Amino acid sequence: MVRKVDIDTAESIDVAEFIHHARAVDLRDEAELFALAPSMRKLANNRAFLAAFIESGLEDIGNFQRDNLYSSRSYILGSVTERSFLRMAIWAPPAFSSRLDEDNFFSYERAHNHDFSLLTAGYIGPGYTTTVFRLDRKPVGYVGESVALSSREVIQLEPGRVLLYEAGTDVHTQHPPSGLSVSLNLIVDQADANPQQLYFDTDAMTVLGYVGNTKLKRAAFMRFAAALATDAVSAMLSDLADHHPCSTTRLYAYRALALADPDLSEELAERMDRDPSDVVRMSTRLLDDRFADSHIWG
Ligand SMILES: [Fe+2]
Repeated sequence: MVRKVDIDTAESIDVAEFIHHARAVDLRDEAELFALAPSMRKLANNRAFLAAFIESGLEDIGNFQRDNLYSSRSYILGSVTERSFLRMAIWAPPAFSSRLDEDNFFSYERAHNHDFSLLTAGYIGPGYTTTVFRLDRKPVGYVGESVALSSREVIQLEPGRVLLYEAGTDVHTQHPPSGLSVSLNLIVDQADANPQQLYFDTDAMTVLGYVGNTKLKRAAFMRFAAALATDAVSAMLSDLADHHPCSTTRLYAYRALALADPDLSEELAERMDRDPSDVVRMSTRLLDDRFADSHIWG
């Protein structure tokens, strides 16, 4: 369940102090991570680093956040460890985002989980509202899979509030804030636990699709391969489907093969049935409509 705490304090710390506190705890442990909530809350009282950040960005705008691969709506404030960093995220109300949300950063109105832990505090503005759920068991991760989502709750990330979304198990749907809002985020990569990032249909309680990541960039690229399926390309896709170590990549190689040649469906179904991954084996039914139901977002 998303953990929530409201902290009333006028105390303030800076980014360096927060990073110092964060480095003192075991960030792989969600309980220890949540114990950083008071430090996160004090950091949210500090307006000075925001002004300094904006001023330094404007001073050298050509190099501004060059290493930030995430989004124009999130800004890295500092690295904590090899696998964790502090960032600021900007949440815009709908009138603004419908025109400018080109890169789908907000993920508004689509329930999803994260493959990272997220400790977050309201910093500026009224804060976004989010509907949170908990996954009662780890999904296999195939489209259409039934999932158990419980503990529905609507939470606003208002000023003074700190939330912890646990990697993998906490699912949420973001709703736009009533006014421009900024949150502070401590992001901790939990790759060791290997949680899969998914989208969910919270009415039907099923897996709806995959959240975009580097693996899925390969998958999306294979759409183009399918459109230009020469014999050589088909042979390469076939080889990826048989031998690539990543199950998602194999699944999307099968998808590209199915798109390239509808007559292959039966043969592909047999091959997918022999795949070592549950995700691929459980996805054979997607061949019926040539994978029209498998979605990647983000
Ligand atoms: Fe999210």
